[in-house]
Amino acid sequence: MSEEALENLLHEDRTFPPDPDFAAAANLSASAYEAATEDRLDFWDQQAQRLSWDQTWNQTLDWSAAPFAKWFVGGKLNASVNCLDRHVSAGYGDQTALIFEAESGDSRHISYRELLEDVCRAANALEALGIEAGDRVAIYMPMIPEAVVAMLACARIGAPHSVVFAGFSAEALRSRIDDAAAKLVITADGQFRRGGAMPLKPAVDEAVSQAESVENVLVVRRTGSEVEWSERDVWWHDVVASASPEHTPEAFDAEHPLFILYTSGTTGKPKGILHTTGGYLTQAAFTHWAVFDLKPESDVYWCTADIGWVTGHSYIVYGPLANRATQVIYEGTPDSPHRGRFWEIVERHQVSILYTAPTAIRTFMKWGDEHPKAFNLSTLRLLGSVGEPINPEAWMWYRSIIGNDLCPIVDTWWQTETGAIMISPLPGVTEAKPGSAMRPIPGISAEVVDDDGNAVEPGGGGYLVLDQPWPSMLRGIWGDDERFVDTYWSRFPGRYFAGDGAKLDKDGAIWLLGRVDDVMNVSGHRISTTEVESALVSHHKVAEAAVVGATDDTTGQGIVSFVILRGSSAEDDGLVDELRAHVATEIGPIAKPRQILVVAELPKTRSGKIMRRLLRDVAENRSLGDVTTLADPTVMNLIADGLAQGASD
Ligand code: WT7
Repeated sequence: MSEEALENLLHEDRTFPPDPDFAAAANLSASAYEAATEDRLDFWDQQAQRLSWDQTWNQTLDWSAAPFAKWFVGGKLNASVNCLDRHVSAGYGDQTALIFEAESGDSRHISYRELLEDVCRAANALEALGIEAGDRVAIYMPMIPEAVVAMLACARIGAPHSVVFAGFSAEALRSRIDDAAAKLVITADGQFRRGGAMPLKPAVDEAVSQAESVENVLVVRRTGSEVEWSERDVWWHDVVASASPEHTPEAFDAEHPLFILYTSGTTGKPKGILHTTGGYLTQAAFTHWAVFDLKPESDVYWCTADIGWVTGHSYIVYGPLANRATQVIYEGTPDSPHRGRFWEIVERHQVSILYTAPTAIRTFMKWGDEHPKAFNLSTLRLLGSVGEPINPEAWMWYRSIIGNDLCPIVDTWWQTETGAIMISPLPGVTEAKPGSAMRPIPGISAEVVDDDGNAVEPGGGGYLVLDQPWPSMLRGIWGDDERFVDTYWSRFPGRYFAGDGAKLDKDGAIWLLGRVDDVMNVSGHRISTTEVESALVSHHKVAEAAVVGATDDTTGQGIVSFVILRGSSAEDDGLVDELRAHVATEIGPIAKPRQILVVAELPKTRSGKIMRRLLRDVAENRSLGDVTTLADPTVMNLIADGLAQGASD
C-alpha cells in the first residue's frame, strides 16, 4: 500500500456503533468475547457442538507437534451429512438451499432434499468410478449447482477435492493435478460468459494428456458445445443421473483431509493448502453464523465469490450449508447483460446478506449510482467485504448506496490458509470503522509485531501474526512439510506469520495494509511476482523479467512487468500483446500484466538481487527512493524515462 493511502488511513476516524435494533436480534453478544478469553478451548468446544458428530472428541486441541495441529482429536463426522442430511432429517427438506441464477437470467430453486439426493447420486457415481476415501479429485467447473454437488460428493466419500479456478489455464490446471496426483477430474463442456458459450473441456484435455495420475474425466453438459471425447471421459448425466439417490455416509476422523486448495506464495510453485474436516467445518459454520448473523428461516444470503477460491469453499459451500442457509449462486459476470445485474439479482431473490469484494465495489462505484438505484435493495440488512483492504471511500459508498446507510458492514480478514474468518467486526456487537477489519473474532488471537517480533503499541505498524492455533488453520502444504514450517512459522518462531502488514490504531483496531512479501493482490486474487516472472521468462523472446504490484484504483494492485529481451529479439508492435497472451496461457487471464515495459537493464544490487522496491516506485510514479546500493545507479533513470514515454500497452 502506498504512503499516501497509509496517510489517509491515519486520518480516518469515523466510527459506526452497532444499531440498537440490529443488536437486539443479533446472533451473538459481547459476552462471546469474554467467554472465549476466559477459556479459548472451551469456547471452540462449544462451537464444535453446532455440528453433528458420529463420535465426540476426547481432546479439543493437540498442539504437541506444533505447528502441526490436531483439533477435536478422536472425533468423527461427515461434512456432507452436516451440510445436508441432518437438515433433511430435522424436517427442512423442502427449504431452498440454492437459488441458482444462470447467466441467461433463468433461475431455479434447489431444496435441501434435492441437493442431498444429487450429492448421494454423485457420491455413488464417484464410487463406481473407483474413487475411495483419500483419493484426490480435481474440480474445474463453472459456477453451477453441479460444482457444489461435486464438492459435497467428494466430502461424503472422504476424497479430498482440489478445486481449480476455471479461469486458470491448462498449464496451471496440469501442475495442480500433478502435485496432488488427482485420480479424477470433474469439469464441464463449457461455461456461459457474457451471453456466449466458452469452452472448458479443451483445457482439461490438454492438462490431462500429460497427467499420469488421472483415470477418468467426469463431464457435466452445460453449454452443449461439441467436445472431443476419449476413453477416459464420462458424461455426468450418464453416470450421476442414473445412480441411486441414497448413499450411506461413512464418518471420518476429525483430521481427515477435506480439501486441498492451491494458492500463490513467494516462489513460483503454488502451495497446496491442506484443510481437514472437524476444525475447518466448526470455524466455517461458527463464523458464517456469527459474522453474517445468519437467520436460516428468513435470510437470503449471497456470496459472489467463485468456488475456485477459498471464499467459495467456506462461505458458499461449507459454512452456509452447515448452517442451513438459503443462498443465491450466480453463474455470470456483474456486467452482463447490463451493469445493474447484481442489483437485479438482489431485488429478484430478495437478498438480505451480501458478501463481495472491494474490487467489485470500486468497479460499481465507477459505473455510477444509477445502476444500483434502479433496483429495490431494501431487503439487504448486512454487507460483507473480503479479499483485500477496502478503502474508506469504497466502504462509505457501499454503506450508503448499497446499504441505504442502514446495513452494518463486516470487513472480514482471513486467508486460504486460515480457512475461515479471523478478524472482523461483529454486526450488532462491535463498532466498525471504514477501512478497518477491527479485531480478532472471539476465539482468535492476533498481534501486530515489529521486526523483532515485539507487539507494537497502539498507533504503531508492523506485521500481522496469529499467536494461537485456531480450528480451521491449514494443517500443512500438500507434500511439503518443510515449506509449511519455513513459510509460515520461521519468521516469528512459534507464531504464524500471515504475510500482511498491519497497523494498530489508538483504540487497538487493526488496519490491514496489504502484503509485505512478493505476493500481489489483484482483484482479491493472490498472484506471486515469481510466478508471473517465470511465465514471462518461459517465452522465447524474454531473457529476464521483474514483476511488481503497483497500486491500482480498481483492482487494488495491478501487475507491472519489466522485461529484458534476448539478444536477437527486437521490440515490435505486437510484442506486448504476445507476452500478455503468453502469461494468460501459462497461468490464466487474471495474471495478465497491466503493463509490460521492455528495458535494457534491471536495477540490481551489487550481489545481483533485483530491487523491486525501486521498480514499484517507478510503476507508481513516485520519486525514486535510495538508489545508492544499485550496481549501476543510472539504470533507474533509463527505466523511468521509458515509462514516462508510455512504452506500455
Ligand atoms: C490475503 C489472502 C480471504 C479469502 C479471499 C482471499 C488479503 C483478505 C482482507 C481484508 C485486507 C485482506 C490479505 C490476505 N485480504 N481479506 N478484509 N482486508 N486484506 O484469500 O487468496 O488466500 O488471500 O488477502 O492480504 O493475506 P487469499
